[in-house]
Parts: sequence; C-alpha cells; structure tokens
Amino acid sequence: MSNLKLFFSLIVLLIHATQILTQPTVFREYIGANFANVQFSDVPINPSIQFHFILSFAIDFTPGSSPKPTNGKFNVFWDSENLSPSQVLSIKRQHPNVKVALSLGGDTVSDKAANFTAFSIDSWVSNAVSSLTSVVKQYNLDGIDIDYEHFHASPSVFAQCIGRLVTILKRNRVISFASIAPYDDGEVQRHYLALCVGYAGPVHIYSVGPGPLRDDLIFSLYIPCNM
Ligand SMILES: *[C@@H]1O[C@H](CO)[C@@H](O)[C@H](O)[C@H]1NC(C)=O
Repeated sequence: MSNLKLFFSLIVLLIHATQILTQPTVFREYIGANFANVQFSDVPINPSIQFHFILSFAIDFTPGSSPKPTNGKFNVFWDSENLSPSQVLSIKRQHPNVKVALSLGGDTVSDKAANFTAFSIDSWVSNAVSSLTSVVKQYNLDGIDIDYEHFHASPSVFAQCIGRLVTILKRNRVISFASIAPYDDGEVQRHYLALCVGYAGPVHIYSVGPGPLRDDLIFSLYIPCNM
C-alpha cells in the first residue's frame, strides 16, 4: 500500500471510530416473544445508560393457526398480559432512562415464516401508519424496531415501505426513534442495505448481541445509516 493510500485509510478509520465512540451507549432487550411470563421489572436496569425494551413482535398477519398476510395492518403478538400499556407507563416512570419500542416482523408467526408481504407500496404504508399509530399510542411507546427476516418482496419494495413508514411516523411525532438489527445473512442484508442507502437519516442500526463490533458486516453497515 502506498503511503498516501495508507494515510487516507487511517483517516477513514478514524472518522468511523469517532462516530462509533460518540454514540451514546444503549442497551436493548427484546421481550415478550416467548410468553414466559417475563415482566419489565424482572430485568436489571443500569441507570447510567440508555435502556430500550423492545416488545416482540407486532406482525402484519392475522392471529390464529392459519395466519394470512394483512398488507400492513399490524396485530400485537407479544405477551400483552405481562407487558401491558399500564406496565409500560409504570416502568418508564420508575426509570427515566428507559424507552420502550415494538419490533415489526420477527422470525415466525404460528410456526411459519413471518414473510414481509405488501400488496402495493402505497396501501401497505397507509395501513401500517394507521395500525401502528394506534398501537404505539395505546401502549405509550417511543419507537419501532424492524426485524423482518423473511421476504416476499424485493429489497427496493421493502426499503420504500419501511422507509416511508418510519419517515411518516417520525414526522407525525408518533415515534422518536427507529432501528434495525440485521444479522449475517446475504438475503437479509440485501434488504436492509437498500433501506440503509435509501433512508439513511431516519433509521438507526444496532447489532443484536454483545456489542456493535460483534460482526464485520454489521460494523460497516452501522456507519452509513447514521450519517
Ligand atoms: C412464508 O413463505 C413460505 C414460502 O416462502 C411459506 O412456506 C410460509 O408458509 C409462509 N408463511 C406464512 C405465515 O404463510
């Protein structure tokens, strides 16, 4: 490598490192997917960092044993008896550093893949905005997380649906943050990269696991989405 190239590589590395180190520390815990009677108060909360609970999951499928896609009309699929609107309010009152989000999608619905499915971009976005606005308000939530892992749509359609949804929810002040946590899988990363490139502003990226440096691809995706 020439000295000049080395110099520029170091500058780029330094900029990236500075951005990562200046991100506030956020601990995030997905909760409620396994119906194991876990409550917010069971989880120890460090008062000196930001703490996000992520209700898992809201899914745009019908409930029951043969789920059908609803084209963006989201239903609550988390353990809402133990993680109810009043319990959200209560944990936030006790801990000012706690925010609560819901996550969209997840791996399965009734043991089948929770496929991202949109009949059209406009109709999916419109249904998702209205259904999620009511759930977020009902449950006193602060943000949404995107965790689709299976896709019946191209990366471009997925990116436009999610990007427009997040933009509108933020503009309407329904949510104050949105996040994604893509994992190390080619198909998954193609869809989230399209979202990242098209909607760099509104969506923040977190990695699932011990920390943001766990995985090379997540590490490199972390930067462009926050610029
Ligand atoms: C999702 O799609 C797969 C095929 O790609 C199918 O086997 C599965 O049943 C679908 N999931 C649901 C909930 O319909």
